[in-house]
Parts: sequence; structure tokens; C-alpha cells
Amino acid sequence: MKFQDEINRRRTFGIIAHPDAGKTTLTEKLLLFGGAIKEAGAVKSNKIKKGATSDFMEIERQRGISVATSVLAFEYDGIKINILDTPGHKDFAEDTFRTLTAVDSVIVVIDVAKGVEEQTEKLVEVCRMRNIPMIVFVNKMDREGKDAFELLDEIEQKLNLKVSPLSFPIGMGYDFKGIYNIWENNINLFSGDSRKNIEETIEISDIDSLEINKLIGDSAAETLREELELVRGIYPKFDKQEYLDGNLQPVFFGSALNSFGIRELLDCFVDIAPKPRPKKSEERWVEPNEDKFTGFVFKIHANMDPNHRNRLAFIKIVSGEFKRNTPYLHVRHNKKVKFSSPNAFFAEKKEIVDISYPGDIVGLQDSGTFKIGDTLTEGEYLNYKGVPSFSPEHFRYINNADPLKSKQLYKGIDQLMDEGVAQLFTLELNGRKVIGTVGALQYEVIQYRLEHEYGAKCTYENLNVFKACWVEPTDPKNEEYKEFLRVKHRYLAKDKDDQLVFLADSSFSLQMTQQKYPSIKFHYTSEFQ
Ligand code: G4P
Repeated sequence: MKFQDEINRRRTFGIIAHPDAGKTTLTEKLLLFGGAIKEAGAVKSNKIKKGATSDFMEIERQRGISVATSVLAFEYDGIKINILDTPGHKDFAEDTFRTLTAVDSVIVVIDVAKGVEEQTEKLVEVCRMRNIPMIVFVNKMDREGKDAFELLDEIEQKLNLKVSPLSFPIGMGYDFKGIYNIWENNINLFSGDSRKNIEETIEISDIDSLEINKLIGDSAAETLREELELVRGIYPKFDKQEYLDGNLQPVFFGSALNSFGIRELLDCFVDIAPKPRPKKSEERWVEPNEDKFTGFVFKIHANMDPNHRNRLAFIKIVSGEFKRNTPYLHVRHNKKVKFSSPNAFFAEKKEIVDISYPGDIVGLQDSGTFKIGDTLTEGEYLNYKGVPSFSPEHFRYINNADPLKSKQLYKGIDQLMDEGVAQLFTLELNGRKVIGTVGALQYEVIQYRLEHEYGAKCTYENLNVFKACWVEPTDPKNEEYKEFLRVKHRYLAKDKDDQLVFLADSSFSLQMTQQKYPSIKFHYTSEFQ
């Protein structure tokens, strides 16, 4: 098969959802439809169980699963589908943001009873800012939930999306009768004693056909006709280009647990979801079908075996073909590296592959040379943008609790930061190290992993910081900037890339500083060029 055909048949996407909306169940059902797994229960939820935040076995269990589910690939209808895992837990939101730099589209899962939840809002906002095409899947239609129109309204308002329903539910909860598929013009009935069986799909040529009355009864048929009329009146007609541009979001309804509405979703997905898209580097746009290989690291995972310090770096291939045993340029190190055993991912296993194509994810064994955001090329000096750090929410000093193990401690901190577990800031004033995290849970993870993987012990000390702001002077030589550096010296730190960061201790002091030094820009993310 030609290189261009390989690109055309790839779909790389992520499923985003608030915990419990049904991401794991949907993933599993997609894999079942793709024939990649044989039975339900094969995909493990990477959820942190409630109340288990200080249970280290739970953290290890979660880490183990998150390696196994990092990338799940399967074939459906000649299309190679790569699902990238996105943790729903808010303490791991940054991991999800980074993964979103490697997807070409997303499916957003919403629980029909709970509606739009907090995590969904945040993640969708990131996708919207990057114009990532989104399909919305309203799940748990077998349960009582919100009225479909009310929910569509909520999705538009809270998520700031423009929706176009491609299916519509017939009833809900106990009265859930099935789904009218607007995309394919057919009806799927939900029935059977156990209500777990999928009835055959019934083609409907005309919405006024009495066939519908026979299938679902007169009153439900009338309601359906009225509702479909309303859908046509209120919502824009689906337009593929608008969807691909991130301006219109098709909506499907179903029940992942009952495998209901999944085939419709998947069929439409392979039809409309984008193949690998061009990506912007600092230097230029890169097209997937360029001859030369380029790719970037969006995730690093430590080996689960503490005796082997090796890590797995996940690379998204942006252009060209990635070949085994071929030297590539590690742009940040300006060094050629080659890989004898790159891993490709399948539903339940990983395998060494000789060649991978744009859209694919390969896992490279790494002994500490990569960090998140690194670019690999065939020789060109380019750097992919879009794996920014965000200001953490929590800040603590990290102290060495075992003076004999300081080397191990610093190495451990260094490597955990490369993995993106948290962010490290080094104070300009005295060189003290500060760890910034999105959630408090990460401090426990770091402490536990430093001890078990590096043999080092640490303690923490609270530090009152409101936000970390990356500092951008208009002119580094002007007097205003020099004064800022002098006056605010004790609030300044360097991040891991040696960028200057202002650790504002309150929202008020940040405002005052901004007013006093108008020529300096303060950014909440590390990427602002
Ligand atoms: P997540 O990955 O988004 O966190 O959600 P997950 O798939 O684990 O689903 C959360 C819960 O919702 C699970 O129940 C799951 O069985 C249930 N669920 C998923 N899809 C549907 C659906 O279409 N209808 C109904 N009624 N329930 C659904 P649980 O009791 O928390 O877990 P489990 O013990 O059943 O696995």
C-alpha cells in the first residue's frame, strides 16, 4: 500500500469525559466492534478509585493500567484507528492536555443524567481553542436523564459548541425505545427481554411512513416526527467541512453499556473524522505526506520495573515514515539517535514494528534522553509547538530527607519532571526547589516513586503561591525590566527550561505587579510566542 493510502486510512483520536460518564465502557465497545477484543471487561478503567488517594497500591495499579491503555489501536472497515488515553481525573488534567496535542479529533462523552460536567468543560475548551474536530456522544440513554433538547441546549451554552444532532433518541430511561439515525435515515430499536440486545436496523425511507407507527406505537411515532421537525428547524444541517474546521459538532445518542448506538457512532466516525492533520512547528507547517519523517514526544512513561530505569517515550508521527534502526535527529540535543525496538500499540499488546506512518504512535525505549515536547526529524532543525506547561495550582518546597541520597533525589526529581508528573521551579534567590502540581495527589505519587524507584526520601513544605507566570519583557534591557528583576528578586524562579517565572503570592500582588510594570507580559502558560 502506498504511503498516501496509509495516511488516508488512519484516524487518531482521544475520548474525553468527566470521570464516570462512560469513557472506558465506550472504548471497550469500540474495540469489540473492531474485533480487537473478544469480551467486555478487557479494558481496565484507569480511574483513581474514590477515597484511595493515599493508597499507594492504587497509584501503582493506576500507573500499570495507564501504560496498558496509553494507546489502543484497532482496524475497522480497512481504517486503522488509534485511541489515545486521556485520564479524566482532574489531578491528571495536564497529562490529558498534552495528549490532546497528539490527537487529530476527539469524541466527547456526556452522561445524559449529569449533563455537562466540570472536567468536560475544561477539556472541551482546550479542544475548541485548537480547533480540534469534536463528535459528542450522549451516553446512558437507558437511564432517566435530561430531555434531549434541554441537554443539547446545555451543551451549546456551557461548552460553547454549535451542535448538529446526527441521531435522536426515541424516549429515554424505562421508555427508551431506540434511536432514529438522522445520518443514515434508519431506526435502531432497543428491545429484548434483557434490554441488552440490539435489534436489527430498520431502514426508513420516509419519516411519515406508517412503518414507524408499527414499530414504536402511534404516540411515540408522532412525538418522534415532531421532534425531528424541531431538530431540523433549530439546528444547522451537518456540514463535514464545518466539523473539520472545529465550527460544528455532530451529536449521537446511545448507551455504551448496552452497545447501543455505538456502531452508528463508529460508522460515522470513520467516515467523517479527519485523517492525520498538518502540524505547526516553530519554523513552518508540516504536512503528513512530506517525504521526511518528523514527530514529537507527547508522553513519557516510567518503566514499572524499578530495576530497569528505562522509560517509554510516546512519539506521534507527524510526517514521513518512521523506520526501525534508522538514525534520527534529536533536535534539542542536536544528536543522532536510532531505535532498535520501537513499539507499536494494539488493543491488548505492544509489538516491535519496522515501519510506522503519520497518525501512528510509537513507543521508544529511553534511558533519560527525552522530555515532553522533544522533536525528532531526519535532519531538519524544527521544533513542534503545542506541549505547553500551565501554571500549577499547588506549590511546595521539596526538601531532601536523607542527605546521603541527594544525588538520587535530584536525578529522580529530574526524571519525574521530564515525564511531566509535575513542574520544577528553582528560586533565583537561594536555589531552593519548588514543585508545582495540578492536584495534591501528585505530591504523594512523587514521594512514593522517589523512594521506590530512586531510593531517595523527601519532605515537603508549604509555599504560598497563587500562580506561576512566565515572564516576557518587551525589552530585556530597559530600566523597567531591570527594576522588576531587582525588586521582585525573591519571587523569581527558573522553570526546567530555564525560562523566568514570577511566583505571585496573591491575585492582588499579581495585579499590582502588572500595573507597575506595563511593558512586561505575564503568561499563565509556558508557551507564548
Ligand atoms: P469512565 O471511564 O468515563 O470513568 O466511566 P466508565 O466507563 O467506567 O463508566 C462508569 C459507570 O457507568 C460504570 O458503572 C459503567 O458500567 C456505567 N455505564 C457506562 N455506560 C453506561 C450506559 O450506557 N448505561 C448505564 N446505565 N450505565 C453505564 P460502575 O457501576 O461505576 O462500574 P462497573 O462496576 O459497572 O464497571
